[in-house]
Amino acid sequence: MTVRDRYFGVLGTGSAAPERILTNAELETMVDTSDEWIVSRTGIKERRIADEKTTSSTLAHRAALAALESAKLGAEEIDLIICATVTPDMAFPATACLLQDLLGLRRIPAFDLSAGCSGFGYALSVAESMLRSGPYKRALVVGVDLLSRITDYEDRSTCVLFGDGAGAAILGELPEGFGILASELGADGARGSLLQMPAGGSLRPASLASVEERQHYIRMQGSDVFKFAVRIMDEAGKRVVAQAGLEMDQVDLVVPHQANMRIISAAASRLGLPEEKFFVNVERYGNTSAASIGLALDEAARSGLLKHGDHVVLVGFGAGLTWSALVIKWWAEGDQHGSC
Ligand code: UT7
Repeated sequence: MTVRDRYFGVLGTGSAAPERILTNAELETMVDTSDEWIVSRTGIKERRIADEKTTSSTLAHRAALAALESAKLGAEEIDLIICATVTPDMAFPATACLLQDLLGLRRIPAFDLSAGCSGFGYALSVAESMLRSGPYKRALVVGVDLLSRITDYEDRSTCVLFGDGAGAAILGELPEGFGILASELGADGARGSLLQMPAGGSLRPASLASVEERQHYIRMQGSDVFKFAVRIMDEAGKRVVAQAGLEMDQVDLVVPHQANMRIISAAASRLGLPEEKFFVNVERYGNTSAASIGLALDEAARSGLLKHGDHVVLVGFGAGLTWSALVIKWWAEGDQHGSC
């Protein structure tokens, strides 16, 4: 069990999603698929798609403002920004820097982190370490992705899965025993090719040929990622709960990466937890990558599912291949979510 001398956790959460809904029925008119296939294989019924004016930084900004409001803090009280994304507004500057400007902030450190769908958990864990060791008091963590911008709507094996969204959390110091109790980050780089966007980087810069070959879209070996996901959610979930000094039956809620209902069900069964303990919104948003866990955590908090003192496990997996798992003892004193 890891013993912490100081405790840092979530002071407030926020999320944002574009208004436009892309239904399974609409996808049926775009590729050779069916609502029946999508729902039975993934649990997804609809996903949100950003309009042309929306970018990762503007969606992140909406989520950040909601998180600040829920934490009852002003933007000027934040002194660190970490943004997890694989769809930054542009390669550089970092989306976190664009977000800093949108929030009217100056000077504070702001950087992006690329860990695919594990990004939100990675960012929480990195922020916690920086709060513990550095001169920072409060961090804004945002997971945001506009996967619709890199989804190939001619590839039925991927286009039915992905959507756009943002999830945010404000981190700060909490009384002893609350907040992040344990975390595990991991990666298996040897399997990076299972989930990638092949072109647009230094390996294969954008060219007429790369565009014609449709190399600027997500390419995924779905069933291999599926098997990895189920195994790692089970293994990392068990390790992090033990690291927090808890038994599995002390877990009140699991907020998993929302990729596929079948992955969530299989992980629940392996962890020996009832599915009712898993917060699920994949049916409404699809897979929103780095936004997924933050968006789900915000909905869980606002719906009153998370009570003061609850043990919540956040567990995700994604491109890299990466994974992240955290145990948080939920702080809701002062009722910042109306859920206490
Ligand atoms: O966030 C991290 C990233 N991604 C994930 O977590 C995704 C992990 N993987 C998955 O969720 C699943 O592997 C998928 C949902 C992507 C696919 O489900 P599956 O049960 O593994 O299906 P499959 O890839 O083995 O395909 C089964 C069949 C194939 O047809 P044949 O070869 O059996 O005739 C596919 O061509 O389903 C076909 N298929 C489709 N049919 C209708 C694939 N996509 C579709 C589709 N509509 N959209």
